[in-house]
Amino acid sequence: MTAQRIDGNALSLKLRADVSRRTAALKVKGITPGLAVILVGENPASQVYVRNKVKACADSGLHSVLEKYPDTLNEADLLDRIEALNQDDSIHGILVQLPLPAQMDAQRVIEAISPAKDVDGFHIASAGALMTGMPGFWPCTPYGCMKILESIPYDLKGKHAVVIGRSNIVGKPMALMLLKKNATVTICHSATQDLKAMTLQADVIVAAVGQRNVVTADMVKPGAVVLDVGMNRNDEGKLCGDVDFVGVEQIASYITPVPGGVGPMTITMLLVNTLEAAERTSQS
Ligand code: GUN
Repeated sequence: MTAQRIDGNALSLKLRADVSRRTAALKVKGITPGLAVILVGENPASQVYVRNKVKACADSGLHSVLEKYPDTLNEADLLDRIEALNQDDSIHGILVQLPLPAQMDAQRVIEAISPAKDVDGFHIASAGALMTGMPGFWPCTPYGCMKILESIPYDLKGKHAVVIGRSNIVGKPMALMLLKKNATVTICHSATQDLKAMTLQADVIVAAVGQRNVVTADMVKPGAVVLDVGMNRNDEGKLCGDVDFVGVEQIASYITPVPGGVGPMTITMLLVNTLEAAERTSQS
């Protein structure tokens, strides 16, 4: 069996067309969804990410502001800036790009963002809302994975999903989202003793480790659905995921490529969250 590749770019375009349409409808009511992106320091990868986020806003008709600060910024000043954005009615979403410089307490900074504007879904209130099934913003990458799963003819109910990775940004929220869809969920991580024994039982595998070849063909049950959240470089410097795509493609039923799978969905879900934050203000 050769797996069907799931095209994250195509799905992204479809969802972004809907974002553009709903944004235009909101503008008629006098509201332009606005995202504030804060970058502290000069991390090269972060600079690319924030540039892409700002561009995506412009492409879909959202307003955005990018605030760049030197890595010498002190935390109190950053917290003041976040509070000003919390009070700013033209801003519906606030995103502080991670990682932050070492002198800052990233969690304390995230907790300063109003949960109503926490479009990254990293605030403890957002995490609690996801855990308890209350309304709140979901972290963009696992949310994008759920949209990918919704885009294929596949019912998660009763299926065994194995999530590899336990970060607050991907692994843990991913597990909760799969659970909400009635999957049986296992979370594997660096201390898991026999990863292959786990993945061989999986109907769905989500690999979110940040390391090449964590999932190889011999670890996958025939017909499994495989989502690859990894973003790594191979020996030739080319982008690759956590999954050995060439091998696993022969075993799985559906698979996301890297690049062009989960990646484009992350920014798309950021746009969706920002739009929804703005829509909520129009309803209140
Ligand atoms: N750094 C890496 N990924 C992310 C993300 O999704 N949001 C933020 N704020 N920082 C990140």
